[in-house]
Amino acid sequence: MPSHDDLVLAERPAAGVLLLTLNRPEKLNALSKALLSTLRDRLAVAEADGSIGCVVLTGAGRAFAAGADIHDMLARGLASYADPERLASWRAIEAFAKPMIAAINGYALGGGLELALLCDILLASEVARFATPEIKLGSFPGDGGTQRLPRLVGQSFAMQMVLTGAMVDAVLAERKGLVSEVLAAERLLPRALEIAGDIACRSVAITPLAKRAVRAAAEAPLAEGLAIEHALVVDSFATEDRTEGLRAFAEKREPVFRGR
Ligand code: HXC
Repeated sequence: MPSHDDLVLAERPAAGVLLLTLNRPEKLNALSKALLSTLRDRLAVAEADGSIGCVVLTGAGRAFAAGADIHDMLARGLASYADPERLASWRAIEAFAKPMIAAINGYALGGGLELALLCDILLASEVARFATPEIKLGSFPGDGGTQRLPRLVGQSFAMQMVLTGAMVDAVLAERKGLVSEVLAAERLLPRALEIAGDIACRSVAITPLAKRAVRAAAEAPLAEGLAIEHALVVDSFATEDRTEGLRAFAEKREPVFRGR
């Protein structure tokens, strides 16, 4: 199996932070099977590495990602969409336990938007553009978009996006709650790394629990979500870091978290 490492670049720009860059700029980072499996592998390494507390995901060139690989879909039809390895990559990316920030530098279209929706915090450059253009190809989102988009932006706006395929600019995306901040292009990565650094200096035993709790709000009915939150907070009491955090407060010093 040839190595596809160059499809997703990995850097360590700051303590505790892993920066991953989708790197197929000549195809606007279209999500080929190889690119997705490389991303999955990078995240598996990040998950196992206790020194990594937060991941920032961005795209090289003018796109975050322009969606599933249309040429592959044309060549392989259903087999390209239902490819077990491709689907396994999506599931693994979805299951990544640590916080992940999308720094959306340009187009986030179709599967590219669906990938951003798997991230926990979405930041956009002012030149970013969002759409689910599948309808123009005689299709519609198939990697989570029809479910996650309405939960974020409401049914009416999600329907409008899915049924028209129209482009949404960064300011409108922020107004609809799709992204939390819009930044000048040159500020996007510094800001993403700043937030990632703020997260990475917390306990790596606790931040994944917090991520799971907040995610439950979108995935479970309220009573179940509250039960999940409760169980995760109970789990957090079992960590040394929780004791350390409380003790450090009482002793008026900074906590020293050990990730356990
Ligand atoms: C494969 C892609 C691609 C894609 C762009 N490219 N998007 N290749 N899959 N999704 C390639 C182009 O073929 C071209 O390669 C190069 O990237 C640059 O793109 P251009 O079209 O020349 O750039 P531009 O004219 O600036 O237009 C940008 C664009 C346009 C508006 C973003 O590329 C576009 O509409 N792309 C498709 C977006 C889309 O429909 N995404 C959803 C895909 S379906 P060459 O070799 O010609 O230079 C999906 C979910 C499917 O995501 C699930 C189904 C169930």
